[in-house]
Amino acid sequence: MDRVGLAVFAEEVIQGLSTEPKRLSSKWFYDEVGDDLFVQIMKLPEYYLTDCEFQIFEQQRQNIIEGFDMSGKDFDLYELGAGDGTKTLELLKGLRNVEFTYKPIDISIHAINNLERRVSREMPNIQVEGIQGEYFDVLAELDSLKPKVILFMGSNIGNLMDSQANDFLKRLSRVMNPGDKLLLGVDLKKPSAIVLPAYNDAAGITAKFNLNLLTRINLEFDANFDLHRFRHAPEYDEERGWALSYIESLVDQEVHVKALSKRYSFKKGEKIFMEVSRKYDDDTISAITQNTSLDIVSKFYDQQKYFCDVLFEKQ
Ligand SMILES: C[S@@+](CC[C@H](N)C(=O)[O-])C[C@H]1O[C@@H](n2cnc3c(N)ncnc32)[C@H](O)[C@@H]1O
Repeated sequence: MDRVGLAVFAEEVIQGLSTEPKRLSSKWFYDEVGDDLFVQIMKLPEYYLTDCEFQIFEQQRQNIIEGFDMSGKDFDLYELGAGDGTKTLELLKGLRNVEFTYKPIDISIHAINNLERRVSREMPNIQVEGIQGEYFDVLAELDSLKPKVILFMGSNIGNLMDSQANDFLKRLSRVMNPGDKLLLGVDLKKPSAIVLPAYNDAAGITAKFNLNLLTRINLEFDANFDLHRFRHAPEYDEERGWALSYIESLVDQEVHVKALSKRYSFKKGEKIFMEVSRKYDDDTISAITQNTSLDIVSKFYDQQKYFCDVLFEKQ
């Protein structure tokens, strides 16, 4: 990570661990180990989200691409938080004879490098220009007049609380021009028996993924989090549709973050809030898109109706 990124990470660690209840932002999950663990999560039988969205692209690719309405136009295809791009490549199969540049944005340089290599190898005719950065920062600089399609998949939007998601979509809409499209993947509300295992798999990969953030703080800031003294503790509030990831302290303890000259005490049972993964319905989709100037063009569902990709057009 560069110095600026590290300084922001340090500031967020200090802020997050000094507040009550303690919190750490999920955007720091994705170092090289975190990226690899997330790829493993996407292949878990319990993590239905990836399979559902993949199925949508596999079965409805042509309808989605027709909805982009970019035929004959030279356009930019942005993707926010692209990750490993497996699903995107499935969608790109439908854009083989179209003029466009694929511009994935990701905070993880490892993810961007891998994705660029993968696209060049598997789809050499596609022009790809990866951008490493925070999507909020990259978005602020997007003032191209070229037609745009923006992909924001995997229900990544659900990692924001509704009011933040609404602010995010307002900002996004401001960098879009009339006719530009947004394809937004959202996970839908469903019973706890389906949702909770997706965040608490039997093989313990999601637990490793969450706890890896403590390892990352140990490595980057010379801290002494003992991973045996914390556990991954996810919850699902079925009524509100919030899957919440926490790390819980198993004992009373103090952690020293040497490079930041900070000490933090944890009580037995105290939780660090890591991430929300919002599950949506029509009302919550309307709530996060109100006053954004984004109109729904179509909704694409998987066969079980677990997941939805919503296509919006900027007015
Ligand atoms: C949960 S993965 C999802 C990947 C992909 N969208 C998918 O549907 O499979 C989230 C990705 O977003 C990236 N990411 C998370 N927060 C970010 C931020 N604030 N700015 C840029 N990228 C971010 C991570 O590095 C990671 O690759």
